[in-house]
Amino acid sequence: MNVKNQIILALDVEEKNKAYEILDQTTEYLDTIKIGYPITLALGPSIITSIKEEYDVKIIADFKVADIDATNEKIVKTTLNYGADAIIVHGFTGEDSVLACKNMAEKLDKEIFLLTEMSHPGADKFLKPVSLDIAQMGVDLGIKNYVAPATKIDRLKKIREVVGKDSFIISPGVGFQGGNAKDTLQYSNAAIVGRSIYNASNPKKALEEIIESIKV
Ligand code: C5P
Repeated sequence: MNVKNQIILALDVEEKNKAYEILDQTTEYLDTIKIGYPITLALGPSIITSIKEEYDVKIIADFKVADIDATNEKIVKTTLNYGADAIIVHGFTGEDSVLACKNMAEKLDKEIFLLTEMSHPGADKFLKPVSLDIAQMGVDLGIKNYVAPATKIDRLKKIREVVGKDSFIISPGVGFQGGNAKDTLQYSNAAIVGRSIYNASNPKKALEEIIESIKV
């Protein structure tokens, strides 16, 4: 995947007007949007289709898919058929669950991102001890795209070492959760930013400042 300016907007707003307002202000600089449960549960999955119709963006559906293989396959199929270009899938569920997602996405000519380790402090207890194994499983399954935390650069670096330089890593946690875009992009291909942009009094300016900070 190619991400303009190496920034992905996490559009975790719950009102259509607000979502469109933010997209109007930011899509000059962005071509990749992450949508997740907040906006999808508030407005319905057709919001994916609507955004795709009105804006020239790629959509990554952050549904952190984590079920048995047969159910995962249905979740991935339906999400991608709404127009999402890629879907984020948990790795801790194991090989069969992840493979079901990968196979369905490939059938639809779309992509999955494998979530290795999460960005919040609580992830240290259960996910951190297995995240490198999850990343290695992804490599063994031929997965090219990964999610790894911007808030824990040492972990991001280790995950990059496992998945290799040709894999594509996207990293949440820049801004509000404490991560820094420039440091993150040493190891990651794109930073995911939500609240620091959509809660800013001037989202366009906030985004411009993040993009500037990468160049310094
Ligand atoms: O508002 P903020 O910039 O913290 O948004 C980060 C986004 O990335 C949220 O949508 C959050 O759910 C998501 N995310 C995360 N950590 C992960 C995976 C996804 O923060 N490991």
